[in-house]
Amino acid sequence: MNHITLGYTPALGWNSWNTFTWDISEKLIKETADALVANGYLEAGYEYLVIDDCWSLKERDEQGNLVPDPKKFPNGMKAVADYVHSKGLKFGMYSCAGTHTCAGHPGSFEHEFQDAKQFAEWGVDYLKYDYCFKPRYMNGELLYKRMSLALKNCGREILFSACNWGEDNVHDWIRESGCHSYRSTGDIQDNWDSIRHIALSQIDKKAFTGNYCHNDMDMLVVGMYGGSNSDWIGSKIGGCTDAQYKSHFSLWAMMGSPLMIGCDIRNANQVTKDILQNKDIIAINQDPEARGAYRIKVEPNWFNEKDAFVLVKALADGDLAIGLFNFSDNTRELTVQFWDMGIPAASGAALSMYDCWEHKELGIFKERFAAHVPSGDCVVLRAKLVVS
Ligand code: GLA
Repeated sequence: MNHITLGYTPALGWNSWNTFTWDISEKLIKETADALVANGYLEAGYEYLVIDDCWSLKERDEQGNLVPDPKKFPNGMKAVADYVHSKGLKFGMYSCAGTHTCAGHPGSFEHEFQDAKQFAEWGVDYLKYDYCFKPRYMNGELLYKRMSLALKNCGREILFSACNWGEDNVHDWIRESGCHSYRSTGDIQDNWDSIRHIALSQIDKKAFTGNYCHNDMDMLVVGMYGGSNSDWIGSKIGGCTDAQYKSHFSLWAMMGSPLMIGCDIRNANQVTKDILQNKDIIAINQDPEARGAYRIKVEPNWFNEKDAFVLVKALADGDLAIGLFNFSDNTRELTVQFWDMGIPAASGAALSMYDCWEHKELGIFKERFAAHVPSGDCVVLRAKLVVS
């Protein structure tokens, strides 16, 4: 990794917040690092292990430095970073553009350069930067520019993950600020409504994602099944079906979001692993050109566009990723017309279809493709142009 490749494609990793919120420790992070390697996640591409909020004491020390909570991290953060690195992983931490983090720990406001230096000394490779407690008189854009500059000059290569929840028209200015990704929505919850809401809110923002600055639709809830220690994330209201988790993962991958796992991977079931480690879907997300996905109409055209839609993502090798999504309550037969992706019938061109969830070739299709998609489910294809 160097400055040419840092942030080139969306980040892949794991983040502590969705499942563990405040209940984090050196033990949890080490066990998660072990699981990322032993259970195949690192090999599948998940390289960043990120500690979210609640890692520090509530006060800085006399020199104004952030202090790791000694109960949670008795050996400090450098020791954790060293362990994470020894596993071949990269280490991520969290701070906030405001005076305090969302959970009330010290934020980096007016300490940006000091904190960036501290993170570099600890061996941090990734910084998530939140937006709580931003002084009203401060312009948020300027604060992301500040920390970006601080990180780029701290002596260590650190991926900068902005998190201002889509506020202040962030997509209009974030690329120039130097961040490698930006959160575009409020916090995800572990339920189907939340997933649908986030996906639909970003579908028309496809122009605002790309190499070096990716639209972050929030951490994944795949495999949580309602298992968070926070009511907000979803322990009481949460959980999705496996088909819904599969659609969630497909949407985030196709729409170019970073893929940050949010479940407890120490004991994830096989279905969760198969979803999170689907190489064909990850390849679509990690396509080098990182283009946004555009929506085409789906037939029959009386479907509400929020109930059934097709996303298309142009890939670097000339293939098309095509996702058929069914948000309605019933199984639907969805039809894609190739004309809508730039393939007129008169061209004689056809598409050779590969099913990215069934992992099999479906054959060559002309003019259109149709599939029965169950409620909450999806079909994702990798289509190769065949010109006769
Ligand atoms: C905000 C962020 C979340 C998480 C929490 C931590 O809500 O959007 O992703 O980092 O803060 O307090």
